[in-house]
Amino acid sequence: MSPSQHPIEPHATAGTMSLTPFVLLAACWGFLAVTWLAWAAGRLAAAFTGAEPGPDWGSGFVTDLLHGQWSLAYPHTNHTVVAVAFTTLLLLAAAPVVSGWILWQRRRTHAGDALPSLARPREVSDLAPAGVTARARQLRPSLAGLPSKRIAPADTGIALGTMRLPGRAGPLLRASWEDGVLAIMGPRAMKTTAIAVPAILDAPGAVLVTSNRADVWATTHTARAGIGRVWVFDPQAITRTGQRWWWNPLTAIRSVEDAARMASHFVQPIRRDKGEDFWLLAAEDLLTSFFLASAAAGLTMTDTQAWLADANDDEPVRLLADHGYPEVSRALRGRQHGAPETRDGIYETARTAAKCLQDPRIMAWVNRPASSAEDQLAPFDADAFPTSRDTLYLLSKDGAGSSGPLVAALTDQVMRYAVGHAEACGGRLDPPMVAMLDEAANVCPLADLPQLYSHYGGRGIVLVTILQTYQQGSGVWGERGIGALWGAATVKLVGAGGDDPRFAADVSALIGEHDAATLSLTRDATGYLSRQVSVRRQRIMGPEDVRAIRRGTAILFASGARPALLELAPWFRQPNAPALTAQTATSIAQISDRAERERLTADLARERVALTTVHAVATVVPPGESDGDAGAVIRPVQLGVPRFRNPGRPRP
Ligand SMILES: Nc1ncnc2c1ncn2[C@@H]1O[C@H](COP(=O)(O)OP(=O)(O)O)[C@@H](O)[C@H]1O
Ligand SMILES: [Mg+2]
Repeated sequence: MSPSQHPIEPHATAGTMSLTPFVLLAACWGFLAVTWLAWAAGRLAAAFTGAEPGPDWGSGFVTDLLHGQWSLAYPHTNHTVVAVAFTTLLLLAAAPVVSGWILWQRRRTHAGDALPSLARPREVSDLAPAGVTARARQLRPSLAGLPSKRIAPADTGIALGTMRLPGRAGPLLRASWEDGVLAIMGPRAMKTTAIAVPAILDAPGAVLVTSNRADVWATTHTARAGIGRVWVFDPQAITRTGQRWWWNPLTAIRSVEDAARMASHFVQPIRRDKGEDFWLLAAEDLLTSFFLASAAAGLTMTDTQAWLADANDDEPVRLLADHGYPEVSRALRGRQHGAPETRDGIYETARTAAKCLQDPRIMAWVNRPASSAEDQLAPFDADAFPTSRDTLYLLSKDGAGSSGPLVAALTDQVMRYAVGHAEACGGRLDPPMVAMLDEAANVCPLADLPQLYSHYGGRGIVLVTILQTYQQGSGVWGERGIGALWGAATVKLVGAGGDDPRFAADVSALIGEHDAATLSLTRDATGYLSRQVSVRRQRIMGPEDVRAIRRGTAILFASGARPALLELAPWFRQPNAPALTAQTATSIAQISDRAERERLTADLARERVALTTVHAVATVVPPGESDGDAGAVIRPVQLGVPRFRNPGRPRP
């Protein structure tokens, strides 16, 4: 007989076992059971029809049955009724056997099954409801006095997904308030819907969200507006909600170190393209001195941009010397008086890094508004935010000139203030602040994110970084940086859609190996059956299995536990999905409405310009044709009703 492809028990013992005695025993018991059912059917039929019962069950009855002597086996009963009773009894007896078989088949492990070799519930008990509740009571003084039953699940941690166990679903696992989370999942792998949105909706305190799309804002902002103020930083009009506030990035710069941090956020996005080189380091230094000069002198980001535009402008040199930074001033002067080619190269690199400062839409968010608009635009207080229950959405598109550096700078600033508050209130923020860095590599290139993980762990500031691929992370933070981030995150999720062969191989190696047993049945020349189990060591999930992981599931690596498989829980499968769907639809409709209105307004403005031009051209009369010799004159001309360029479009 060929080896069976089917039954595998990961922890079976290798060896050979004779099967013939078991087969014979099973056949005997089966035979006895069927004959007994046949006898019982006769008794049942007799009782049902009121006939006299037949012979007792025994060798005589069995012999009659085997010889087809129905009139002896069932002398007084209608044989059709006996047949019906027998069929019914057989079905009733078979039903539990078949159900048990199906259940066993479902739960039974198969060749290549990873689940039995992954974590058991007790290994991840820290993330299970009882474990996270206990940890939440330790980490949050406000919950310490409450009985566990009165603590809402949302107060205990960030939902990750439901554990998958062989043949059944396990508990819903959560990251605790002292974990740092890193999720690596490909596009459409439910990063936003299953990780970002549920965590934002559940968060008991302040939430900072980064994104390059409006989806996360559309689903969550209405609910979050119910518990705190919603701040949307959206200079590139992704949500088209308009500007309601402004933020001065320079107010938090009080030292060379602060200015250097600010400069690093601007340089980081081009570092991923160019790598570390002299020009980048020098440009970072130049930006540091400009930010420091602007902040010290109480100027604005526009001044920084103006200084960048003119390599000979010595205003920052003077300001730095006047405000107590003579060393930085001298360094800047030296740079400005260096070889022109070098200086121009440094300035050009710095201009590329600070390209977003050339965009007036972006600058409107970071410069003090004109006095006429000051009433409508509130200043954002990054210091007050971490202890509030507000939500800050930081939106930026990808690519050069995006507001990404400012998103990173604002994230960094808020987190630094959060640390200050945590230190002031016993080391931890309560309620904790969640920093949900969706599409972090594209939108929030925080230079020292890997270090921040260890710095913020245990302070009630929970970082959740969401990346599409591991490579995306190494592009932004370098191989060492993303390695440090992976190491510092205490909860890691790897989801569907990862096509990087190296990463898949690494994840497969991390999941580990198990003994897979192959069963084969053999029959020798005498017809004797035996069962052989051979065990071989193999990967629990090969790289190809990691790559092919189903959308909606993720592998969880929690520190101190074997990997577990999770079924993600996207918001649209939660009980409150209908309300959230309606809110999302309303928000998306608002974005479309505003986009359409803006397009029509822009069209109208263009048409007005075109019309004015036509009107002006039509009314200028050249000197030769004028009534006098005085040169050109303007003669009023009736042009009639202007024709719009797109007559089919509805007018606003
Ligand atoms: N309200 C919804 N109902 C059903 N499916 C949805 C809904 N919103 C998003 N999806 C689907 O869920 C999948 C994951 O979306 P999303 O979480 O935005 O992906 P990403 O991982 O890129 O952030 C997509 O295929 C999307 O079409
Ligand atoms: Mg997304």
